[in-house]
Amino acid sequence: MSLLLNRNNFGDPANRGNVLSRKEATSLFNEWVLNPRLQLHMKQVAHLMKIWAAEKEGLDEAGQWQWEMAGLLHDADWDQWPEMHCKKIIEELEHRKVDPEIIHAIASHGPNHFGVDPISKMDKMLFAFDELSGLIHAYSLMRPGGYAGMELKGVKKRLKEKSFAANVSREEIEDACNRAGIALEELVSFIITHQGVVT
Ligand SMILES: [Fe+2]
Ligand SMILES: [Fe+2]
Repeated sequence: MSLLLNRNNFGDPANRGNVLSRKEATSLFNEWVLNPRLQLHMKQVAHLMKIWAAEKEGLDEAGQWQWEMAGLLHDADWDQWPEMHCKKIIEELEHRKVDPEIIHAIASHGPNHFGVDPISKMDKMLFAFDELSGLIHAYSLMRPGGYAGMELKGVKKRLKEKSFAANVSREEIEDACNRAGIALEELVSFIITHQGVVT
């Protein structure tokens, strides 16, 4: 099954600045994503994107919502239409005249699967948070205290253990950090600090 998108342009530049309202995005999310585990993953990535946009990029509320929205909807079609991931959500957001930068971030969240390179900082951070977030969450589930007391070195140990969250590609994590120009340690620490509040 190929998920290649076979294009590099998404959305219409005339729609720059257009976003879904939080209400619209939430109702699309609830309608399309029925699996609670996937819902949690998407909410976690959305939260990380929002906090990163605020704290590290210094974006205002409108900018933060663009990042958060990309995170919230990046896997929206994965639950019910995995063979159309992420073509379906891209087409839906194009139809709804959403900002092309948000659509591009979603289109490039898996360069090895969709054939679209992350270009903007938003693209790169979405790619970087995506799988790392899942691995760290899996680790929290096997710790008695969950996220409480979790340390960087514990996560690094799990990363070295090939059998742990075996479906998470270590090469992709490394590739994502390189593309974002951010050390793995910084990303992991950021996720440990912020991800636990999302339920
Ligand atoms: Fe995905
Ligand atoms: Fe994802």
